[in-house]
Formats: sequence, structure tokens, C-alpha cells
Amino acid sequence: MDGINTSFLIPSPMEQIENELLGNKNITLFVKRDDLIHPWLSGNKYRKLKYNIAQAKDHNKKMVITFGGAFSNHLYATAAACSLYGLQSIGIIRGDIDSDNPTIKFCMARGMKLIPVSRSSFRLKHESKEIQDIVSTYYDPYVIPEGGTNSFALKGVEELIHEINQQILLSPDYIILASGTGGTTAGLLTSDELRSKVISFSALKSDHLTEEILRLAGNKNNQLLTVISDYHFGGYGKWNNELLNFITEFEDSTGVLLDHVYNGKAMYGLYDMIRNDFFAKGSTLCYLHTGGLQGKSGLAYMKMKKRVK
Ligand SMILES: Cc1ncc(COP(=O)(O)O)c(C=O)c1O
Repeated sequence: MDGINTSFLIPSPMEQIENELLGNKNITLFVKRDDLIHPWLSGNKYRKLKYNIAQAKDHNKKMVITFGGAFSNHLYATAAACSLYGLQSIGIIRGDIDSDNPTIKFCMARGMKLIPVSRSSFRLKHESKEIQDIVSTYYDPYVIPEGGTNSFALKGVEELIHEINQQILLSPDYIILASGTGGTTAGLLTSDELRSKVISFSALKSDHLTEEILRLAGNKNNQLLTVISDYHFGGYGKWNNELLNFITEFEDSTGVLLDHVYNGKAMYGLYDMIRNDFFAKGSTLCYLHTGGLQGKSGLAYMKMKKRVK
């Protein structure tokens, strides 16, 4: 694999953010920069895929099959991981393949074979005959679910707590992150070393996220979890100018980039809650940056397509 960077920035850096709001409220805010782990394979995708790829290799699998939407961070990261570790990859994708979409372009450039399926089959996943037929044409694949959440993903995420406790003495009062399927949040809860409360901001409309996270975590550390569903900006992938302006201001003042699907929303929510005195004075917060920055090219592409129409 000449020329391919397989070194990962682990432990990922912990950076403090300082500004007037945080000073006035006497809040210490750190950002755990998992977005910096690797140019292609970073954030929660690095954590979730680490033991899945190890498992595939240990079982001599030659191919990984997974699922995702057209702008999926998970498809992008799986294509990257498979090319880094010499595995073939198949991405079963919802809807049509637009080969100008930057996520699709990247996946194809990393050798992922993309197979489109109808939205109705995609929703049914393994229960869909169309998907079963596709999977059964390949010999002995390692199948990873959409979003990458399974027990190996949780094991990879769990390691973050040890890193955070090494980097912030006495552990932060709160760990804050964005959630979708809830797998990343569940992984944090499964750690025996967790001493912090966990605030999980849902990036989508969901009435059952708390139950889902606790189910995935086997109810471990349930008293430490709070799920906030007030900052999804209309649902998964939805955004408005207020969110985009917040992201731009945050990026300009900190140098930390945020995607508009997950981290932009969670950081917006966090700042709002700080402003509204949710956190006691003197609290130490650790915001877990879950990556997803490839989504910024997707946003630029969607805006460009809208202008052209
Ligand atoms: C960048 C980013 N952050 C957060 C999440 C949410 O993670 P989870 O689905 O494990 O809740 C995702 C989706 O997997 C993601 O791509």
C-alpha cells in the first residue's frame, strides 16, 4: 500500500476553547479532536470500524459489504478503511448513483463497488429479497450494518473514555456528542471507566433514541445519560441559515471545522444550553468531535446543484 497513510493520530488531541461566553459562564470547554485522527478515516467512524476491520481480517474475509445513503459518512469511511487494509468493499446504496456526488466519487476512487437499491428495499435491509439476493452473490462477505453500529463498534468507541480520562485530570463533568443511531453514545456508556455525565444531541427526529441507546448499552450507566432532541433543525440532513451562520462563526473563531449534519447541530445546541445556564458554574465539558467533515463537500455540491436548476 505504497503512498497510503495508515498512521492514525491516537490518542486524538484534546484542545481547549476559550471565549467570552465560556469565560462569563465560568465553563471550561475541551474538544476531543477525533476529526483529526486520519484524513479519510476519522471521528466515530474510525472508532466504530477499528474492531470490525480487525474482525474481518482475523476471519480471513476478503470483502466487506455495507449500506448507506448517497452522502453517507459511513460508506465513505468503510471505503477508506477497506482500501487501507486490503479488503474489497461493496456499498449497497439507497436510491440512484450520482457519480458527480463527492462522497460517491471518493468511494469509487477507493475501489468500493456501489450497488443501488430502491428506497423501499433499503428500508427493509436484510429482510428485503433484493438485498438478500445481492449479498448472496458474494462469497463469504463481512457484513456491517448501516451506520456501522454493532458490538465491535461499541468496543472501539469505549476506548475513548480511557483516552479522555488520561487527557482531562479528574474526568470532565460532561461528555457531549451528536447522535444518529445512538451507537457512539452507547459505546461511551459501556465503559467501566466512565465518570462523566453524557449528553447526546439527536441529529434527527426520534422519539425512541434514549431507549435505543440504553438497549445498545445493555442499560449500563443509564443514570449518566441525557438525550436532547431540540436541535435537529427539522430532521436528518436538514439545515437552515442560522445553523450555517453559527458553523461559520464557530469555525472562524476556533479553527475547528464542523459538519452541518451532526457536529454543527450538537455544538449549536451546546452553546445554547451554556447560554441558558444548563451547566453549573465551574463545570468542565468535553465535546467529542465525531468527524463527518467529508459532508461539507456534499453540502457545497447540493447548494451548487440547487443554483444550477
Ligand atoms: C459525523 C457523525 N457524527 C455522529 C454520528 C452519530 O453516530 P451514531 O449513529 O453512532 O449515533 C454519525 C453517524 O454515524 C456521524 O457520521
